[in-house]
Amino acid sequence: MKKLLSGAMLTLMLILSSCSKSSDPEEMPDPVSDDDPMAMPMPRNYEADIKAIIESNCLSCHSNPPVNNAPMSLETYDDVKNAVETRSLLARINSSSNPMPPQGRLPANTRQIIEDWIDQGLPEN
Ligand code: HEC
Repeated sequence: MKKLLSGAMLTLMLILSSCSKSSDPEEMPDPVSDDDPMAMPMPRNYEADIKAIIESNCLSCHSNPPVNNAPMSLETYDDVKNAVETRSLLARINSSSNPMPPQGRLPANTRQIIEDWIDQGLPEN
């Protein structure tokens, strides 16, 4: 009986809390929500946004000279630009079957930063 009662209480509390939520005045939309597909992408550039991502995720292999059988360096802006234009860098970081880095894809928001930068024409700074 006790169990039943506390179950009923819990249900009641859930109903009450969901009611109070839905009667709240309209929530203001977050103007800079990262996961709002309609949001304008942030302006991105290599020096401020891309270099650090490459450094911490790619240079362990794509150094100059490259190691661990990586075929090219990604150390400089020109290296990265070249890999975008001639080595399908974007497709490789988004690939689920053959991703870069090989140990697993970067978080979606990190990949989105690189994608936005490419869409914006690869500005250096
Ligand atoms: C653990 C070592 C390692 C890391 C870390 C790594 N790569 Fe690679 N990468 C390789 C190897 C080895 C190859 C060649 C084999 C292949 O294409 O899968 C390669 C190939 C590539 C290619 C294709 C080159 C071509 O001409 O086909 C791209 C583009 C690339 N990597 C980009 C990246 C980027 C961008 C990162 C970081 C986000 C990264 N890699 C991290 C080892 C690595």
